[in-house]
Amino acid sequence: MDQSPVSPELDNIEVELFVQALQRRHGYDFSQYAPASLKRRVRQLSDQLECKTISGLIERVMHEPQLLPRLLEGLTVPASDMFRDPVMFRALREQVLPVLASYPQINIWQAGCAHGQEVYSLAILLEEAGLYERTQIFATDLSERALQQAQEGIYPAREAQQWSRNYQASGGTRSLADYYSARYNLLKLDQRLRRNVTFARHNLVSDGVFCEAHLILCRNVLIYFSNLLQDHVLSQFRDSLVRGGFLCLGLRESLDYASSSADFSPFAGPLRIYRLASRSERKLA
Ligand SMILES: C[S@@+](CC[C@H](N)C(=O)[O-])C[C@H]1O[C@@H](n2cnc3c(N)ncnc32)[C@H](O)[C@@H]1O
Repeated sequence: MDQSPVSPELDNIEVELFVQALQRRHGYDFSQYAPASLKRRVRQLSDQLECKTISGLIERVMHEPQLLPRLLEGLTVPASDMFRDPVMFRALREQVLPVLASYPQINIWQAGCAHGQEVYSLAILLEEAGLYERTQIFATDLSERALQQAQEGIYPAREAQQWSRNYQASGGTRSLADYYSARYNLLKLDQRLRRNVTFARHNLVSDGVFCEAHLILCRNVLIYFSNLLQDHVLSQFRDSLVRGGFLCLGLRESLDYASSSADFSPFAGPLRIYRLASRSERKLA
């Protein structure tokens, strides 16, 4: 028997029930994700898992706990690139790292690290600036699957050309190929780049402040969140940064409407790099 087309109203109800099921069954709260993109991803998941309806997907959420990593991966879009938005990496290289160089120990939190491309890019920047030995990078993500891939550092070799161009545009003077070995159609990043990286699962929705960071990168994550959730996460970043620490967001993200915006000043304005004011500056504001 043919299914009748799903009305937008029914669709909304099913997505809402899906979100509730995921929260009550597994403790993951997606209720504050931006609704349009969340809906799209729930529908895609339902198709990929060959469920006739989202209600069918809900049944699987309830009764197939082994499906959870697959669900989280499908809902959270772990897409990334090395030296993505090279202009931002150039600003980190030329403007931010020289300031961080004055600290004896540098802590960096990279939240939403996906498959790790950004972490390895950062490690290369730090290595080239002679700062890596005194840096600790905490790379976190919600998705176990994404973290596993990030730790392996293996990617399709077809990415190499674009990533090489990105690296050069970020001010890199070597060859990106110095940092990976290629075999068949895969490339594997030099595992020495991971030596000061700690990968950990951390949920920005429900887990707390992470470390005393000098730099936090969280790019292309907040766009998936409602304004309320963005506000919560940005306050968490403020509380995790040392005074004078840097926050780096994606090019389509900003602090403009966040309640913590007064605590930061733009450091490289259009690039969405901000600096947490010192205690005395905050008193004056
Ligand atoms: C589009 S990727 C961004 C990757 C990288 N930062 C970049 O800009 O290329 C978004 C990442 O955010 C992660 N993410 C989504 N919701 C999250 C949450 N609540 N807590 C932690 N990470 C989350 C996803 O798993 C995904 O890996």
